[in-house]
Amino acid sequence: MSLPLDARQLAARFDSVFGSAPDGVWQAPGRVNLIGEHTDYNEGFVLPFAIDRTARVAVRLRPDAGIRLLSTFGNQGLTTADAGSLARGTARGWTKYPLGVLWALQQCGLPVRGLDLLLDSDVPRGAGLSSSHAIECAVISAFNELSGAGLEVQDMVLATQRAENDFVGAPTGIMDQSASLRGAAGHALFLDCRDQRVRLVPFDAEGAGLVLLVIDTKVSHSHADGGYASRRAACELGAEVLGVKALRDVGLEDLEEASGLLDPVTFRRVRHVVTENERVLRTVGLLESTGPAAIGPLLDASHASMRDDFEISCPELDLAVEAARSAGALGARMTGGGFGGSAIALTPASAEQGVRAAVEHAFAAAGYTAPAIFRVRPAAGAMRLA
Ligand code: GLA
Repeated sequence: MSLPLDARQLAARFDSVFGSAPDGVWQAPGRVNLIGEHTDYNEGFVLPFAIDRTARVAVRLRPDAGIRLLSTFGNQGLTTADAGSLARGTARGWTKYPLGVLWALQQCGLPVRGLDLLLDSDVPRGAGLSSSHAIECAVISAFNELSGAGLEVQDMVLATQRAENDFVGAPTGIMDQSASLRGAAGHALFLDCRDQRVRLVPFDAEGAGLVLLVIDTKVSHSHADGGYASRRAACELGAEVLGVKALRDVGLEDLEEASGLLDPVTFRRVRHVVTENERVLRTVGLLESTGPAAIGPLLDASHASMRDDFEISCPELDLAVEAARSAGALGARMTGGGFGGSAIALTPASAEQGVRAAVEHAFAAAGYTAPAIFRVRPAAGAMRLA
């Protein structure tokens, strides 16, 4: 991937493509979820952080309904559309995300004019780091400011969720866009997905002599495929049979009774969500009392639960986690929706090279595509750059 363009370079490129300067440049980050997987749409707890990889958009509103979209990557070329006729199923590639946001804003009753937009991004695509939400959050931040719509962050969270659910066709929750819009450097975001209440929790791995490695397995996934939706449906069935509004309302102490009421597969799906909510709360407690070095066992337990109970891991993710752990990582787990994408490994800085080498070696020995391994840090959420 070539070096990301800074705001001035992006604005200059915009000028040369569209013939005049943009109204401004905005950026929004991808995310890593530290812990709390498939809990968001169960009205539970998550603990993601915004990463130091971002999508950046140079945008100019137009007086008419014309839309022109271009990115600095890929070979899609210039895409044109009309704000008066946005419809699900008509967009291709990355343009689904900006067009989905504009469509969702229209569904909320906002007047949406046309715009010209140039996108650059260094969030790896298809790696489970929410490159799509980074684009959506940059676009909605730009639109909100330029149009004077006056949306609050919680409105932008729900509008981007609507774009994903009803335009892109991925029945996802609110975690990714919340991290991208609300993230803060040096912190993870403890989010209660029932009421969108947030608390910033210090997460300074490097200050504690650790690094947080992302291991991109290169196994691609899409949450618009069936696996994500079927897990969501199992959770809804579990909640219905147990007579609760959402699985958030089921506690560890209820699991024994639940095992007698649910079929075995649904029970295991429910058990993942219930225990994962508990692990998020314990992780927050440890980060606030002891520091990042204490959370390794919770990361490991989260991975085991996703592998065995929720069944959303894959051999490459399991191998990445095992190899990292055996080379000295304090804890490791897959992150994001699953079925591919990335694992994270919380690693003493002194063991970083050994962990990288062990994972690379294990992948080569298994005949898997070489993974990409890189450090991430908690970074700021969406903002205007110029
Ligand atoms: C994807 C979705 C999120 C969340 C995670 C799983 O990233 O976009 O809403 O459900 O999967 O935790």
